[in-house]
Amino acid sequence: MKAKSPAFEIIPRHIALIMDGNGRWAKINGKSRIDGHREGTQSVRSILKTAFPLGIKIITIYAFSTENWKRPAKEIQGLMKLMTESLNSYEKDLHDNKIRLRVMGELGKLPKSLRTKLEKTMNDTKIYSKHTLVIALNYGARAEITDATRKIAQLVYKNKLKPNEITEKHICNNLYLPDIPDPELMIRTSGELRLSNFMLWQISYTEIIITDKLWPEFREQELYNALEQYNKRQRRFGGIEDKEFNDG
Ligand code: FPP
Repeated sequence: MKAKSPAFEIIPRHIALIMDGNGRWAKINGKSRIDGHREGTQSVRSILKTAFPLGIKIITIYAFSTENWKRPAKEIQGLMKLMTESLNSYEKDLHDNKIRLRVMGELGKLPKSLRTKLEKTMNDTKIYSKHTLVIALNYGARAEITDATRKIAQLVYKNKLKPNEITEKHICNNLYLPDIPDPELMIRTSGELRLSNFMLWQISYTEIIITDKLWPEFREQELYNALEQYNKRQRRFGGIEDKEFNDG
């Protein structure tokens, strides 16, 4: 049944998704782990179809972390193949809905076929500016911040910057995608209360919603539920809620 699209007062510009629970979904349903990931790709599709028409501009999905290399080789190979196939199947959706694909992470270690597919799709969709899908692939926030630190250290080494001139802006400007604004909302599925090395710099003031739903079950109604919760929260950025007290 198609869920009714509710009207929300506040729509986040950028949502980040930790897609967890594919393995558990597979186990519960008597399927292989890769079947679980495959079902997860259908949730990605459903979220893209639902989120952009609501006014969300950027969706970042955590597809493969720097820690995921510790998984069995068979699962890693299966995931890489699945991602290549999914990109082929998303291609029409990306163009029909004018979605720009971007990637965040170190792509050098990925199989050539996936890299080539990513590079071609990124290039083919770079004309679109209204909607962006960011795939975090071989991504780790600590690696990203370490990388940024190295780049800033180079500037200091070359006498282009003094240590006491380094500001938060220098770190922001040296992250993988400096032009992408911080997410206002992060959603993690499968009930785990962890950040798993995801966007640690960018989520300093992000609202976090954890749902018990497993990622393959996270479809349009689940996104509506999360947006409803988000709309009930007050974002204060370290200030206080009551304007009267803020003025005093
Ligand atoms: C976590 O579930 C999920 C992943 C590590 C992979 C997510 C990737 C996809 C859904 C494919 C996305 C497709 C594209 C095109 C980017 P888990 O295996 O950790 O689940 P478990 O904790 O229940 O074992």
